[in-house]
Amino acid sequence: MPKSSEEHRKEPVYKKAKRQGYRARSAFKLLDVQKRYNIFKRAFYILDLGSTPGSWLQVAKQFGESNIKKYNANYYHRDHYKIMGVDIKRLSPIEDVKILKMDLTSPEFQVEINSYFNGEKLDLILSDASINKSGNKFSDQARQIKLCLKILELTKNLKIKGNFLIKVFQGADFEGFYKKMKQQFIVVRSLKPKSSNKKSNEIYLIGLKKKY
Ligand SMILES: C[S@@+](CC[C@H](N)C(=O)[O-])C[C@H]1O[C@@H](n2cnc3c(N)ncnc32)[C@H](O)[C@@H]1O
Repeated sequence: MPKSSEEHRKEPVYKKAKRQGYRARSAFKLLDVQKRYNIFKRAFYILDLGSTPGSWLQVAKQFGESNIKKYNANYYHRDHYKIMGVDIKRLSPIEDVKILKMDLTSPEFQVEINSYFNGEKLDLILSDASINKSGNKFSDQARQIKLCLKILELTKNLKIKGNFLIKVFQGADFEGFYKKMKQQFIVVRSLKPKSSNKKSNEIYLIGLKKKY
């Protein structure tokens, strides 16, 4: 049975998120992935897809800020960060983060990316975007994969050796999508974060080091 919003709010992870100032529990999924794969290493230009309510953007901003100080110019370095988030739903502002309310699959979105990042390639693309679930696992999974394929096209904006994280639903088309990721990234891993709902079929794919 679905949880009431009251039960949901009482969940310890939700409380922990609120205590730490995050807008959602999802922040811990991203932090789990980071702990394991260090996707934020030298990430200064970051794009977050499907951002509402914004906890991944909050995490991305923390890493963007610390990376400026942590890494020096002996290797790839920037003295500033640029972070952009997009969602069809409204998203409350976050200081120094560009927020767009639009469909990430629209051609206009690519124009916005070019304009904000000045045509430069990105270090990291994150996607927690998910379709509105209908409850039918088969059609939901197919719709999610369709969205994921559109998102994978956006990795053309990623620099060589850039990293990518995407939420997928396990099911019939999962293997095919995994193979497509393998064509683009040197290393592909899957992770079901500890903080993910165990019953859900969501899983995250991590593409490390975009190929030449
Ligand atoms: C699980 S939520 C993201 C939570 C977010 N990572 C956070 O930490 O706050 C998934 C989001 O994907 C968005 N989304 C789904 N399809 C989209 C699309 N085509 N364009 C933009 N946003 C989309 C939904 O509106 C929803 O807000």
